[in-house]
Amino acid sequence: VLIRTLITATALAVATSGAFAQAQKAQEFTPQVGQAGKDVIWVPTPEALVDRMLAMAKVTANDIVYDLGSGDGRTVIKAAKLGATATGIEYNPDMVTLSQKNAQAQGVTGKATFMKADLFETDLSKATVITMYLLPDINLRLRPKILDLRPGTRVVSHAFTMGDWEPDERAEVEGRSAMLWIVPAKVGGNWTVKGPGGSYDVQLTQTYQKLTGTARTGSGGGPIEDGKVNGENVTFTIVDGGKRQRFVGKVAGGVINGALDAGSTAQTGWTATRK
Ligand SMILES: C[S@@+](CC[C@H](N)C(=O)[O-])C[C@H]1O[C@@H](n2cnc3c(N)ncnc32)[C@H](O)[C@@H]1O
Repeated sequence: VLIRTLITATALAVATSGAFAQAQKAQEFTPQVGQAGKDVIWVPTPEALVDRMLAMAKVTANDIVYDLGSGDGRTVIKAAKLGATATGIEYNPDMVTLSQKNAQAQGVTGKATFMKADLFETDLSKATVITMYLLPDINLRLRPKILDLRPGTRVVSHAFTMGDWEPDERAEVEGRSAMLWIVPAKVGGNWTVKGPGGSYDVQLTQTYQKLTGTARTGSGGGPIEDGKVNGENVTFTIVDGGKRQRFVGKVAGGVINGALDAGSTAQTGWTATRK
């Protein structure tokens, strides 16, 4: 639907360009929905969806938010109003100036910064939250970089997917969709898991936030089921004969430590170390 919106918007922009638009630009820059951008044209996200995207990402004053292709600055300004330190990356210098004006009018210049830059060349390593409204192929080009960000970084995209990396959450507002991904820690490989039920040689295969694999002991073992990675949180079930053991833990460095999960039947006091 959005591609159609973008194309219609482009046609509209072409139709209204020319002498009139140029004369207007000479006076004061007024953005036109559908105007060309380096890799993506400008179409703003409706304010209600911006609010929802920031809510999905659970943005607070502790966050460092980057909006990739920040347009008129609306997402950055709203994140700043939530107390976050927010940066907009925007290639069009007129849009950068406009965003700065908007941030000033909304009283958030201390928290909202705009950079005239190419989103592909920007260092995102400090981000705890990334928001975007780009295109499917651009999301795919960004994906390897996003997957290398700190585990737990939240990424919210208006309309467009991340290929075969399925979102952790979806929302719909006024017929438009948003998706949330949480960057998973990298836990694929071979581990020794020591817990109350004994010791296992565990092989984990990771596909984004999903884990499959096998667990072996001297006497047997079996498959890994319901394996998930949510940021640094790792959960899986070892099926050993008729016995199912649920493991809930947190990874740091080469170690997964069992989290105390009172009230559930999950194993406590377990540790996994990389082999
Ligand atoms: C669809 S608009 C979204 C604007 C804003 N994020 C929002 O949701 O309202 C995409 C924006 O990305 C900008 N853009 C396109 N290619 C870019 C690039 N390579 N680097 C930075 N910004 C880019 C465009 O100028 C446009 O403002």
